[in-house]
Amino acid sequence: MQKMVFRLNGHPVETLVEPHWTLLDLLRDKLELTGTKEGCGQGECGACTVLLDGLAVNACLFPVLEAEGREVTTIEGLAGPDGALHPLQEAFINYGAVQCGFCTPGMILSAKALLDENPHPAEDDIRAALAGNFCRCTGYAQIIQAIQSLGAYEEKEVEFITRET
Ligand code: FES
Ligand code: FES
Repeated sequence: MQKMVFRLNGHPVETLVEPHWTLLDLLRDKLELTGTKEGCGQGECGACTVLLDGLAVNACLFPVLEAEGREVTTIEGLAGPDGALHPLQEAFINYGAVQCGFCTPGMILSAKALLDENPHPAEDDIRAALAGNFCRCTGYAQIIQAIQSLGAYEEKEVEFITRET
C-alpha cells in the first residue's frame, strides 16, 4: 500500500492505496462513496464519471495515484451540508430526467463540468458534453431539458453556494 493525499468533495483526505487501483476502486470500495456507479468498467458508459479539478473523467479508467494532490468531486459532494440538493439535481427531478438513476450521478457531474465552463450551452453543446454518458431509460430528452432549464445557472450556483455558507 502507498500513501496518497488529495482533496475529496472539499475536504483533505489521506489514505492508503494499491498502486494498481483505479480511482473508482478507491471511491467505491475503500471510501464507500457508492454514488459513483460502475457500469462497463471500460470507459464506455460514463456511469463512473467524477470531476477531477473540475473536469469530467471516467473513474473506472483513471489510475488512482494520478489523483494525488488534486481535487476530486463525486455526486456526494454536490449537495449542500444540510442535504439541500444542487440546482442540477433539482432540475433532473423536476424534468423527469431520473428513472432507474444508474446514469444520473455521472450525467449530473458531466453537466456540471459543462455548465461551469459554458453556463448557456446550446443543445449541441449539451449532447457533445454527454456523449460519453449512456442512459438506457430516459431517451435523453428530459436530461437535455433539465440542463437547458438552468438558463440562469450562474445565479442559481451562486445562490446555492451562498446558502451553504
Ligand atoms: S464504468 Fe466507467 S465508463 Fe463505464
Ligand atoms: S435513468 Fe436509467 S440509465 Fe439513465
